[in-house]
Formats: sequence, structure tokens, C-alpha cells
Amino acid sequence: MTTNSKLKTWVEEMAAMCQPDKVLWCDGTQGEYQEMLRLMIQSGTAIPMDPQKRPNSVFVRSDPADVARVEEFTFICSNSKDDAGPTNNWRDPAESKKTLAGLFQGAMKGRTMYVIPYSMGPIGSPIAKIGVELTDSPYVVASMHVMARVGTKVLDVLGDGEFVRGLHSVGAPLKEANTPDSPWPCNASTKYICHFPETREIWSYGSGYGGNALLGKKCHALRIASVQARDEGWLAEHMLILSITDPAGKKIYVAAAFPSACGKTNLAMLTPTLPGWKVETVGDDIAWMKFGADGRLHAINPEAGFFGVAPGTSMKSNPNAMKTIGSNTVFTNCALTADGDVWWEEMTDTPPAELTDWLRRPWTPASGRKAAHPNARFCVPASQCPCIAPEWEDPKGVPISAILFGGRRATVMPLVNEAMSWQHGTFLGSIMSSETTAAATGAVGALRFDPFAMLPFCGYHMGDYFAHWLKIGAGADGAKLPRIFYVNWFRKGADGKFLWPGYGENSRVLKWVFERVTGSANAVETPIGRLPEQGALDMSGLSVPAASMDELLRVDLDGWTHQLGEIHKHYEKFGAKLPQGLKAELQALEQRLQAAGSRV
Ligand code: GTP
Ligand code: SPV
Ligand code: MN
Repeated sequence: MTTNSKLKTWVEEMAAMCQPDKVLWCDGTQGEYQEMLRLMIQSGTAIPMDPQKRPNSVFVRSDPADVARVEEFTFICSNSKDDAGPTNNWRDPAESKKTLAGLFQGAMKGRTMYVIPYSMGPIGSPIAKIGVELTDSPYVVASMHVMARVGTKVLDVLGDGEFVRGLHSVGAPLKEANTPDSPWPCNASTKYICHFPETREIWSYGSGYGGNALLGKKCHALRIASVQARDEGWLAEHMLILSITDPAGKKIYVAAAFPSACGKTNLAMLTPTLPGWKVETVGDDIAWMKFGADGRLHAINPEAGFFGVAPGTSMKSNPNAMKTIGSNTVFTNCALTADGDVWWEEMTDTPPAELTDWLRRPWTPASGRKAAHPNARFCVPASQCPCIAPEWEDPKGVPISAILFGGRRATVMPLVNEAMSWQHGTFLGSIMSSETTAAATGAVGALRFDPFAMLPFCGYHMGDYFAHWLKIGAGADGAKLPRIFYVNWFRKGADGKFLWPGYGENSRVLKWVFERVTGSANAVETPIGRLPEQGALDMSGLSVPAASMDELLRVDLDGWTHQLGEIHKHYEKFGAKLPQGLKAELQALEQRLQAAGSRV
């Protein structure tokens, strides 16, 4: 329990509305985690994995109507519609509260309401923030144990302080405590993921999955935190954080924003193919960055675990992730092997002869469908990662030297391109676009603008967010600001295959970034930015056809020129809120492209 009267009152009020059978304050102990696993196994939500193969791990299959983030049901309920901006769904806060109060009324009948005090960031770090999630889902409690620091120790630090209020229900009340439950209770028809930025509240109804339900993650650490960051002069971003060390032992930190399922976890845990180079992981999904006393941007990973995409993860592509998930892991929507282990597409070169797919159907390689859901995930403590950086929980954060932006672009965007200034980098972030993935419900492979990989996660007007980025740069010592780069691992050739091998080979691009930061690598100025000079990208020991490399590092003047119309349309959405600095960058790009076009 707590002495915080605001917290006590709020929990009492929410319990009176939701009418759970009981209220349980989570202490955050290992015993409590084990009890959640036991409850999930007992209710049929989870299957225990073979303890010889994956000790203390469980396998969960969600309802097919609850497999990913639901962007169309995600709302920013700011007082003014204009504050949510053109890229968010807005709902009136009073109206929403009314609708939601109706839904939450009695929503936890027959269930337990768990009170989860959590810290995003190392407990007590000056950059960390506290929230409390109320939920009726043991799966959420177990996952929050992994993804955040939870329990009594958080209440101790909270004292009488302020916290983000998160209310969550799967939206499936039970008539009586002993009514049989479905293996994955959720509300197949009604989902609302609502954020009240002014009052720092989150009300999430109807889904038990990932970013919809683990409220510390996207709802708090990005949507609410981005608003706090704007108000307080820092950055809350959808970014991995890694360290890269050269053979001489010099180390720098890099943050990178790629949209959902576009390679953050993989880059964060990369095994360099270049001898002598080392990459270590600080975080794989979210970065909170504040200026330190040294005038540099310092980043913390507000999370304590990885909720990572399973398909595509293998000993070849990401051995560190494979080693991380050897134990104490919650797997969701993977396929099940005959001997009680998990499998997903590309985990092994040859798929098992028979599996049970994520929909509980028998599966063979001849089935002609995927065995795991494309958004199948593992949830595992970050501390288990063999390449976790020893300083990953440093309360001061780590000083960032470079920021990468990127996404899935089959065409136009080169392998790597360095921005000419912070403002130009902000411009590149603002025009980021990427093909959609299975991390959210809806079409996959549709190209859309996803500025800063924050399209689904920015809690306020995206035009104001652009202005905030410019302000961060303008107020800083330019020499101490991170350099900004735009990367693209997903360029395709005429045959539809990726031109770049990616994964560990991305260390070659990281090396160039490292050397740009430390001053030893050369670049050529082009109309779109600075590209590696001939020979500057270390290709030793790698054979990519020369024609592919030419394509990967070509400045596609026609492609960029064609894109200008789309960028103008994109920018028009922001109206008067589009900062002057970005208009100037677009104009300057147009002029450079025109000048270059008339030379050829
Ligand atoms: P979220 O957790 O949704 O935010 O995703 P993420 O950005 O961490 O993406 P992740 O690293 O999990 O990668 C998603 C998918 O992209 C996986 O199927 C990977 O195998 C694939 N992928 C990652 N890096 C590369 C790469 O360098 N090249 C190619 N071709 N695919 C990659
Ligand atoms: C993402 O979609 O970017 C994720 C997974 O990291 S989720 O937690 O579901 O948001
Ligand atoms: Mn993510």
C-alpha cells in the first residue's frame, strides 16, 4: 500500500467503477511474477514451455481479433482538437470519459484489479518517471514486471508525488468469479486506447495486447511523455540506443528511430561483421533524452525489457536476441513445435515438419500459410541480453553522438545520408516515410509518411513536435549536438530482393557514422545530404555486386524530384504550425535538386 492520498483515492474510485472481485497491490517480487504465470497457465491463457529447453517461460496465443496495436482506435483526448493535430485521432475529453466510464462500469466483475506502480527508467533516475497501471489482466501484470521496474520500491520513491494514471481492462467481465474464462479475454468489437495529455491519464479498454495494454510503453513513455518533454524541454522518442566501440577502444552512443518492425531491436543487438568492432545495447525501442550538465543530450532507456518481433529472428540474423530469450520469456502468437518449443518464420532454414500454428491448427511446410503471426513477440528482461551495455541502467543516461532515422523504402532513399545540420536533420526526420508492417492492424506494405517514427506515438500536434525539435537544436551548443543520419536497409532491386544484406553488415554503416563523428571519414556533398565518399564505406570481406552498391549509394535525383509533390502535400497537413525552418529546408532542397538536374 501507499501513503500517497491521491493514489489511494484514485484506486478507490476506479475500483468502485470497475467493480473487481478484489484489488491487489503489486509488490514487484519474483514470487508475484511466478504467481501470474501460474494463473495464466491455470486459466488456459498460457502453456508452460519445456523447462529443459526454455526454463521459466510460457507460450500464449491471443484472440485473433487482438494481435497488434489498433491505431484507428487510439485517441488523443486533448482539450483542444487542434492540439492533437492532423495526424492523431482526436476525441473530446469529457465525451470520451463519459463513453469510457460507461464501458468501465462493472468491466472487472469476476476479476482482480491489479495495481501496478511502475517506474519508466531506473528507479530514482532524474530522467525517470512514475506511473500506476490498474489492470484486470495477469498477462499485463507479468509483462509489466518484465518491461518496467514495478512494485513497492516504486511507491517508496513516489512518496506523495505525481504519477501518470493508467486504467486498463480487457473489457470482458465475468458473471461470477467462477464463470469459465476464455483463454484470451478481450473485447472483440470495442476497443479504445485513450490519452488525456493535460491530466496525464490513459484509459485503455478492450485489448490485452502489447502497446494497447502495457501502458508504460507506448501510451506513457511516448504519447504522454512526448507532451511532458515538449513542456519541459527534452525528447521522448521511438528510438533504440546502442554503443559502438572501435578496435582501439573508443566508444560512442547512437540512437535510432525506425518505425515499428523496421529494425530497431536488430540494430540495437547487432553483431558486427567488421573485426574488432563491438556493439552493445542500451535500449531497443524508446529513448528519453535530456541535456546534461555537459551540454550534451543524454539518453536513458525507460524500459527494463524487450517486447520484440519474433519472426525473422534467428541465430543468423540476431544471435544476441536468440540467446536473450533462452529463459524467463513470455512468447505470444508464435507457432508451437511437437516437443513443446516455439518456432516462427525464418528461425531455422528448414521449418519443422509439423507444428501447431498460432491459431491452434496443425501446420506443415506445405500448408502455404505462416505458422506464427507476423507480429508474434517475445517479452524478456533486458538484463538477459548477452550484449547489454554495462551502463544501460546509468541514471544519468548515455551521451548521444549520432541519431539515425530510417524506414522501409524499396526505392529512392540511399543506404546512408548525413544531414548537413540539425535543422536539415530535423527536415529529414519530418519527411521520413516507410512501408507499414504487422505491428499495427491494417494494410501491410503501404508507403506512408511516418515522421521520426512517431506517427502513431506523438501525443500532440506533429507541427508543434517539429518546432520542438528545432528549438532543441537552436538552444544547444551546435558542436555538442548529435549528428543526424538517414539510413535505409530495405532498398530493393528489380528482382524485388533486398540489395543490402542488412543485420550484422549494418556495422559497416555504423562504422562510417562513428568515423564521421570522430572526424576521420570523408563524405561528398550532394543535393540531398552527405554520402560516403568512394571507398569510405568499409566493404572488406563482403561481396555485394558493384551494381547494387552503386544503386544503394546513388543520389536518385529523379526519385527525389518526384517525391517533392508528396512532401508538399504532407507538409500542407500542418498548416500554420509547419515551422519556417522546415519550409526553408524544403525550398533549399528543391533548389539543389533543380541545380543538379540542370547540370546533367
Ligand atoms: P518494434 O518492436 O515494432 O518497434 O520493431 P523494431 O523496429 O525493433 O524491429 P525489429 O528489429 O524487431 O525488426 C523487424 C523485422 O525487420 C524483423 O522481421 C527483422 O528480421 C527485420 N529486419 C531487421 N533488420 C533488418 C535488416 O537490416 N535488413 C532486413 N532486410 N530486415 C531486417
Ligand atoms: C511497436 O509497435 O512499435 C512496438 C510493439 O514496439 S507495441 O508494444 O505493441 O507497441
Ligand atoms: Mn516500437
